[in-house]
Amino acid sequence: MASSGNTSGGPSRRFCVAPMMDWTTSHYRYLARQLSRHTLLYTEMVTTGALIHGDTARFLRHDEAEYPLSLQLGGSDPAELAHCAKLAEKFGFDEVNLNVGCPSDRVQNNMIGACLMGHPDKVAEGVHAMIEATDLPVTVKHRIGIDGRESWDDLCEFVEKVSEAGCRTFIVHARIAILEGLSPKENREVPPLKYDWVYRLKAKYPHLEIIINGGIKTFEECHEHLRHTDGVMLGREAYHNPWLLAGVDPEFFGQAAPVQSRHQALRAMLPFIQSELERGVFLTHMSRHLLGLFHGQPGGRQFRRYISENAHKSGAGLEVIETALEKVREPAAPEIAEA
Ligand SMILES: Cc1cc2nc3c(=O)[nH]c(=O)nc-3n(C[C@H](O)[C@H](O)[C@H](O)COP(=O)(O)O)c2cc1C
Repeated sequence: MASSGNTSGGPSRRFCVAPMMDWTTSHYRYLARQLSRHTLLYTEMVTTGALIHGDTARFLRHDEAEYPLSLQLGGSDPAELAHCAKLAEKFGFDEVNLNVGCPSDRVQNNMIGACLMGHPDKVAEGVHAMIEATDLPVTVKHRIGIDGRESWDDLCEFVEKVSEAGCRTFIVHARIAILEGLSPKENREVPPLKYDWVYRLKAKYPHLEIIINGGIKTFEECHEHLRHTDGVMLGREAYHNPWLLAGVDPEFFGQAAPVQSRHQALRAMLPFIQSELERGVFLTHMSRHLLGLFHGQPGGRQFRRYISENAHKSGAGLEVIETALEKVREPAAPEIAEA
């Protein structure tokens, strides 16, 4: 799709699930896709080094059913980013995203993630190289600042430089990252959320697509954010309570939900789980992403416990999921409102 207006083109970013290491694996994304056709999904971050020097096909592996899907890259070397953006296109992704928000020490040493907010020229150079290398939309996910560079003017300088390099879509985690002294987990909780800064970005740069992220849990909150921004991105809530996604197509896209019940969603996954088992994937690598599906439902705890106690056993297969499913009663009426 051609780039137009205030978006980078490509898929709708009105509702997105955030990139999350170890969480938004292909298996989680397959579940998410049973629940919503239109949510834009993101991979875990993959570093350019891993893609170039490691097992590229393994890192980029996904199922076509997961589309629309964005590949998130970690890196800063323009030539490496360009190479990996080309790989994203070759492997069928719908977007390539650059991580400028991750505060982990491990990545800071390699000029990856949030530390790059201190180097807007470097990010602009990398983004430019990616845009030159691919027809895919190139987007950036970042914070509103880092310690030492946390003023409104610093944020505007970052967005201006990167947008001048050609990026039109900014996914903004509405808190700063503190690079010294806080763990990545604390960096998702301690620095206060400043949603108004993200709203101000959209007001100041209406030609850019601004997606807001951080601490969003309910559709009501999403609607409020959508009055001021172009899209919302949810991370932890979408992971711990995946059934939320079943409401996204009716609520934000005016389309019917693809499934009527949690049972139906899980049953639709069984052939995929079976084919992954046949490929040698352990059940527990897949089933851990299912644990939140019956969150808050009668029998939900028994479902969770049964999987936790049995999925890691040697030779565990589909029967574990099927037995766990019997522990939660299937509702007679659809669990989801019509579009
Ligand atoms: C387990 C975990 C792993 C994460 N990994 C990444 C990552 O690989 N890349 C990234 O940009 N952000 C990562 N994040 C941050 C999320 O994308 C998101 O910005 C953050 O969780 C705030 O959104 P939320 O409050 O809706 O969860 C991670 C978050 C969690 C909880």
